[in-house]
Amino acid sequence: MRRTDGLIVGIVGATGMVGRELIALLESRHFPIAELRPFSSGLSPSSIRFKGLTVKAPGLSTLPLTACDVVFFVSSDAVARKHAPSLAARGVWTIDDSAAFRLIKNIPLVIPEVNAAALRADRRLISSPNCTMTGLAVAGAVLHRDIGIRAVRLASYQSVSGAGKAALFEMFSQYSSLSDMRPGHDGRAPVLGAGTSSVLPRAIAYNAIPQVGRFGADGYSSEETKVAAELRKIWSAPKLKVSVTAVRVPSIRGHALAAWLTLARPITLARARTLLSQTPGLVLSRAGNYPTPRSVGGKNPVYAGRLRQGLVPTELALWIASDNLLKGAALNSVQVAEELRRRGWLKPRKGR
Ligand SMILES: NC(=O)c1ccc[n+]([C@@H]2O[C@H](COP(=O)([O-])OP(=O)(O)OC[C@H]3O[C@@H](n4cnc5c(N)ncnc54)[C@H](OP(=O)(O)O)[C@@H]3O)[C@@H](O)[C@H]2O)c1
Repeated sequence: MRRTDGLIVGIVGATGMVGRELIALLESRHFPIAELRPFSSGLSPSSIRFKGLTVKAPGLSTLPLTACDVVFFVSSDAVARKHAPSLAARGVWTIDDSAAFRLIKNIPLVIPEVNAAALRADRRLISSPNCTMTGLAVAGAVLHRDIGIRAVRLASYQSVSGAGKAALFEMFSQYSSLSDMRPGHDGRAPVLGAGTSSVLPRAIAYNAIPQVGRFGADGYSSEETKVAAELRKIWSAPKLKVSVTAVRVPSIRGHALAAWLTLARPITLARARTLLSQTPGLVLSRAGNYPTPRSVGGKNPVYAGRLRQGLVPTELALWIASDNLLKGAALNSVQVAEELRRRGWLKPRKGR
């Protein structure tokens, strides 16, 4: 059924890890949809579920997208590069979850709780940031605004769904082929060896991989470089020093971060706790408690805990966890679209 007051919504990559979360969120948050147009790679017959119905998700074709009011890109950098700019130029609000445009100067990179002011009525292509960076950008936003954060050191513990469905299915098959992992008769722990993998750089089952993306000439992985550059853009902090070690771990969903924040001046733990408690989108655990990737899975906010003094009075240590598929991707994109509606910018287009 088609609502006359609703929007025509396109989703490119609707059958992926993020795409399926996005569709569930649009439905559960009652986003006003007159018609949903989901697309997949078209390599095999695909469909999605929306409002109790099965809707076909064919391969991408441009014409049905140009008649949309808003299109979410949740596919790949290459697909977004090819199609998103021309759609936005035709007046379609285009919200991209890939890394293709995040660092381009005139393209807003937006987390609504942190920098909604970066949205502009005439900038119809909007980037949603990296899922690892998002947890930190939300958690540190008020500390940065009120006190100033000068440097960040970060170690990430990133779930396998962050690398897409092929990586997740590969992890499941690695675990099922290693299903009997009880210690042998001599009680010694099994030695698995390095194993093999075709999607991630190493076998992920029972493992931890200190490589997310390709390594650059400076030795940092592309994920580590993205986190640093995107954080500087979101916080409008071009001089912020950031050093990241990004690690893939065998959790299904939920990225965790150990963060050390160097502030512009010393603050007490009590003051830091107050500022974190007032941070939009953040839930701070009480002392002694903490979030984990499993505890944050399927939840919308960013969570933090284990607030401690660092090595010097200006340093705070914090543990952060959030669902990479929700706040790290689909939810953030939906919140951007909701903000555009709140401002009256996203509405059914005349003559679409
Ligand atoms: N996963 C995360 O935690 C996360 C977080 C932040 C941002 N992102 C970004 O979000 C995007 C999607 O990630 P994902 O994890 O959902 O990946 P995914 O699970 O691998 O899904 C990719 C989606 O793109 C579709 N696709 C592939 N090639 C296509 C083509 N040529 N034309 C149209 N659609 C095509 C796939 O269709 P088929 O089903 O037919 O293969 C699938 O629907 C990526 O840009 C990623 O960097 C992901």
